[in-house]
Order: sequence, then structure tokens, then C-alpha cells
Amino acid sequence: MTAPDIDAVAARLRQQLADHLATDGWLRSRQWRAAVEDVPRHEFVPRFYVETDAPGLTTWEPITPELIGVEEWLRRVYADDTLITQFDGRDIDWTDPKPISDAHPTSSSTLPALVVRMLEDLLVDDGMTVLEIGTGTGYSTALLTRRLGAGRVASVETDPGVAARARDALTRCGYAPRLLSGDGLRGYPGAPPFDRTIATMGVRSIPSAWVEQTRPGGIIVSTLRGWMRSLGLVRLTVGADRNAQGRFLTGEPSFMIARQQDAPESLGMIPAPGEGDARDTGHGPELLTMPDSGFIAQLAMPTARCFTLPGDDGAPATYVLDAAHGSFAVLAPLNGGGWTVRQGGPVRLWDDMEKALALWGAAGSPGPTAFGLTVTAGTQHVWLGTPDGPNWKLPAAA
Ligand SMILES: C[S@@+](CC[C@H](N)C(=O)[O-])C[C@H]1O[C@@H](n2cnc3c(N)ncnc32)[C@H](O)[C@@H]1O
Repeated sequence: MTAPDIDAVAARLRQQLADHLATDGWLRSRQWRAAVEDVPRHEFVPRFYVETDAPGLTTWEPITPELIGVEEWLRRVYADDTLITQFDGRDIDWTDPKPISDAHPTSSSTLPALVVRMLEDLLVDDGMTVLEIGTGTGYSTALLTRRLGAGRVASVETDPGVAARARDALTRCGYAPRLLSGDGLRGYPGAPPFDRTIATMGVRSIPSAWVEQTRPGGIIVSTLRGWMRSLGLVRLTVGADRNAQGRFLTGEPSFMIARQQDAPESLGMIPAPGEGDARDTGHGPELLTMPDSGFIAQLAMPTARCFTLPGDDGAPATYVLDAAHGSFAVLAPLNGGGWTVRQGGPVRLWDDMEKALALWGAAGSPGPTAFGLTVTAGTQHVWLGTPDGPNWKLPAAA
């Protein structure tokens, strides 16, 4: 049996990936298509983990050429899949890789459909400069460099080991963007303002450095997320006054949160049985997880987290805890149907949630594109409809 010609097989698979991304409507321009067809993803992600569809605990399985053979490995590399390259901030021991569960991915090569949709959403033109936050494997940095040229792309990665591997892969493939190993929430200090800024990790609010380092008229594309869920993708235009404003884009894509903004390990105090004031509510905990109402919940309770545990009577109850304010809401099913909510602390979380739901309902329960974000030096507000419509404050950036 002859060894497969890796370059030829990879080139064919890249064309297939580009066809697939174009058919699905993510890849729209000739220039980004050329980049997808050219950049060898397998050089950036030589070994990785992918999520399995096994029921139960989320589990990831290792994929390497040694484990599954070169052709199948290449096929997996060029699938429209997220390829995980790090868990819990620790490097993977590749000597004898085993399936992993009960872990949090902390670095990856993002789903190609999401990568190219964000690059298209960035509205770049020839000659523009781009700052990327979250180099990761370097794959998206390579796409940007292939499209715009080395002198026009800078990328920042917070994890030194991840940053070093991306640098090696970029160099090996002949791409030479400016790379910085450091906290990308500070942007790329000292660089001239960029035409575009793109973040490939989620942030709780837009760091002021990104606005300061994007030229007036320039664009910032980033996902926002909270500790309960993602708020999706925003595209902001920086104004001459150094404020930034724009709308959420379609879908609610999700990225791993910036490491410096992850939720604290401790959930805070679980309320004692009977603590707080109870009342009936027509809104059950499914609102927290459904796509559109989950977005509203994240806005209305920006520092809360939620989980399910046995409640006072042993039946499953949903706890919404806000350690920042020492507030809680506990939802439990009522025997005859409906729900009871028990709230305590200075912020009545479920009251705020229901007020937000009512405003959203009055506006016709629209999807994310009805919402926008205004970033000023002091505060950041997500608004519904227009900038002077109903609004919710985002937590201050780190
Ligand atoms: C989803 S991965 C990036 C995917 C990448 N663009 C690619 O194509 O491979 C997110 C990356 O953001 C990095 N990250 C997290 N917080 C960061 C921060 N504050 N500054 C810079 N990078 C950060 C993570 O270490 C991780 O490598």
C-alpha cells in the first residue's frame, strides 16, 4: 500500500470544505474562499479532540494520524468541526491519548463555519489592518494573513504554550503576522489603530482597549457571553467620539469565555430551605435555556449562574444564584402545574427576569438582530429596538 500524498488529499478536502461552507451560505466572497482553499488546517491542528455523540456526560475522543490513519485523520481535520486542542488550561499528553470527559475546553480551532462567517461579517477590504484576539491554533490568523498580508495582521493569545505552538505553525507555513503572547483584553498595546478588531473568544463586555485601538469608523466583531450562556455575536462601529455601537448578528454563536473573565469556582451560598419570599410564577426554568428567552435571562441577570439540585422537598429545583449581589431565586414545580419562585437578597432576580420578558414580549419577542449594543467610556448597554429603547447594562469589562 502506498502512503497517501498528504498535500494532494488535503488540497482536495479544503476544496470540499470551501464548497460546503459556500453552499451553507457562510463563505460568500472570492477572497475568503481562496484563503480557505489555501491554508493547511492540518498544520495548525496536527492532533486534537472532537466531541462524541455518546449519550450522558460530554466526552471528547482523541484524533491523530497514528490512531486512525492518515486519510481518516485528514478527513476529520477538514470536517466542519470544532477541534479541541486544550482542556482546563493544561497541555494534552499525546503519548497515549485517551477519551476525556468532565473537562472544559480552553483552546481549539473553531468550527470553520463560524470562523468564515465572522471573517465575512468583519467586512474587510484589501489594505486593511486587523487585530485578532485569541490566536488559538493560529488557523484563523493564517486565514487573515493569507487574505490581507503579514504586515496587516496582529494576533494576541493569552496562553504562552498555545501562543508558541501557533507561532511555530504559522512560521512553518510561511505566514508572518505580528504575534503577542499576553492578555488580549488589553488589545495590542503600542500598535497603531486597527481598521478591524475580531475576537475569537467570548467576553462579558467589550474591553475599552479594543475600542481605543480600533480607528474611528473601524469595526469590532466579537461574541459576548455571560456565565449562564452566550449572548451571540455583535458588530460595532467605532465613532469619532470613541464610543462604539452596533447590532447583534443572526444566530447565537458561542465561544469559550476569555480566561480572565471565567466565573469564579465557588457558586456562593446556597439559600437555606425556606429562606426568602415565595410566590407563584407562570415562568418556569425552561426559559433560562430556550434560545431567545435564554438571551433575555442572561441580559436581565448578568452576574447570575444557574443549576439544578434537589430542592426543599427533594424534587429537582432550579437555583439561580448571583454571588456578586448575594441574591438568589429558586424555582420549584407546583403540584397542580406551574411554578413557585423563592427569592432573596438585594436584587430580586426573577422579578428582573419577568420584567425583561414582558418588555421583550411587548416588542413581539424578536430574535437577536433586534438588539444592539452601545459602548461608552463608562458603561455598556444592550438595547432592544433602538439605542433609546429598553436596555440592560453589561458587567464592566475586566
Ligand atoms: C476558540 S480559541 C481560538 C480559535 C482560533 N482563532 C483558531 O482559529 O484556532 C480561543 C482562544 O482564546 C484564547 N484566550 C482566552 N482568553 C484570552 C485573552 N484574554 N487574550 C487572548 N487570548 C485569549 C484561548 O487561550 C484560546 O486559545
